[in-house]
Amino acid sequence: MDHIESNYSPAPSASGDDATPSKRKVSTSKRARLTRDSRARVIAQLMRWRARIPGWDVDALRTLTSTEADGVAMVSAVLPAIGDERLRKLVQQHLADEQRHVDAFGERLANVESERGIDPVAVHPAETIGSLNVIEFMAYLELGELRAYQCLENYRDLFEGDVKTCEVIDSVMRDEQFHCAYSHDQLERWATEGFEDEIEAARKWADDIDTSAFRNQCLSFVSMLPRIIFRRSANGTS
Ligand SMILES: [Fe+2]
Ligand SMILES: [Fe+2]
Repeated sequence: MDHIESNYSPAPSASGDDATPSKRKVSTSKRARLTRDSRARVIAQLMRWRARIPGWDVDALRTLTSTEADGVAMVSAVLPAIGDERLRKLVQQHLADEQRHVDAFGERLANVESERGIDPVAVHPAETIGSLNVIEFMAYLELGELRAYQCLENYRDLFEGDVKTCEVIDSVMRDEQFHCAYSHDQLERWATEGFEDEIEAARKWADDIDTSAFRNQCLSFVSMLPRIIFRRSANGTS
């Protein structure tokens, strides 16, 4: 699955909907799509335990900033391969959203570091997961954006009382809902146009990536157990 179909451009939708897409036109049942599965529930519990570590909130803002930067890199890499005009507009909107998320979390992080006299730590360079064709990209988004939304839901609870950070999280969550919905809708649209096999394979591949990410988060949690148990920050302070 490590290849590119350059300018892959499925035929226009059978629905005949060729109007300029907008966030309000996405019709997916968000409630159904955002249901928590067992992996999400485990991750939510791990995040609660990790929030016992002093300074967890600064670490979280750094993670959120770098993860959003990963999103910018990934969407930027795939955008030139999208030939379909309607989808291109959606992905351009998506890219603008992800850049706003980087800026919003980055600004909040800088303010918190400044308020606490913490030296800024360089956020790691953005990462992508290799070359994707457009169906793989949508399948990756369909699940990845759901995980992003669920993660923010957890942070929304953990940051309770930090009004400024919660405002940023709320605004980003609205965008992530849109990203979940349009990627799901696009896959369903292609399914009606004869791409069922490609979509099934891409969803399986995306689920394998999700499984791998889940395992890595569990392993990361295990490596942090001493700090969680003894409530020690990365520099050893309690
Ligand atoms: Fe985002
Ligand atoms: Fe997103």
